[in-house]
Amino acid sequence: MTKVRSRSAAKTARPPIPVAQSRTELAIARAALEGPVSVVMTMGALHAGHAALIRTAASYGRVLVTIFVNPLQFGPNEDLERYPRTLGADLELCAAAGADLVFAPTPRVMYPNGEPLVRVDPGPGGMVLEGASRPGHFAGVLTVVAKLLNLTRPQFAFFGEKDFQQLTLIRQMVTDLDMPVEIVGVPTWRDDTGLALSSRNRYLHREQGPTALTLSRAIAAGVAAAPSGREAVLHAARSILAREAGLAIDRLDLIDPVTLADTAHGPARLLVAAILPGPSGPIRLIDNSALTLPPQTPGMG
Ligand code: PAF
Repeated sequence: MTKVRSRSAAKTARPPIPVAQSRTELAIARAALEGPVSVVMTMGALHAGHAALIRTAASYGRVLVTIFVNPLQFGPNEDLERYPRTLGADLELCAAAGADLVFAPTPRVMYPNGEPLVRVDPGPGGMVLEGASRPGHFAGVLTVVAKLLNLTRPQFAFFGEKDFQQLTLIRQMVTDLDMPVEIVGVPTWRDDTGLALSSRNRYLHREQGPTALTLSRAIAAGVAAAPSGREAVLHAARSILAREAGLAIDRLDLIDPVTLADTAHGPARLLVAAILPGPSGPIRLIDNSALTLPPQTPGMG
């Protein structure tokens, strides 16, 4: 097992973070973790949002971070090859945020027999919203999450609310398949301007910052219009997005947070996905927020 001493660790004499790369190394290091263990699953290219997840997880006990760019969840025209890989910096961030162990397997370690023939079926919730434009994506996500849960055997697993549909489907999988783990959702981490942090933000040119910020502005406008009902929310968000020439709206949805179906009443989630041009291909950004729509009037449909 590798022990990586981070640059900041050298300054503060923080012990190096252990990194397991094989299943055997993971099994040995996992067995040595005492008390409740939380897992934070990532695809690397870690940022302050991941650090917040790790810090929250650390308040529950020991933290195991997984770093794996999962080929199974990328479509043929998506950014698997160019997805940022920054392991050295990621390990520093994990150590600084209070993680106890990192599991950073290769695709061969995760999928020793090649692409798995059996995958987790996300059900109808995996076909809508993001799933409609990314066929097979959520089967790929749930399959790797199930495998990582089996390999790491945590009591708690932490996922960001930014990938809201992913979080909902993971909760559904854990409930429907009786997996012995508690899923904890953590609010989206934003920079000072309100931009939701994402590993894909590094694709953005500096001058695209204000354009990217349009997503959170659109969400805020939608949330503010919530007392006036569903159409007002969608109109408010769409008008902000439409005014920005530097992006194309990919999706704008107002859904029930549990069933993921369109909704017009009560607790809801507003989700936006937009595409910005990038130097080496389109950049797809997402954002979302909870809101409360007016209750259903008795006797009305
Ligand atoms: O959210 C992500 O980074 C990934 O979808 C996850 C959960 C690590 C599975 O590969």
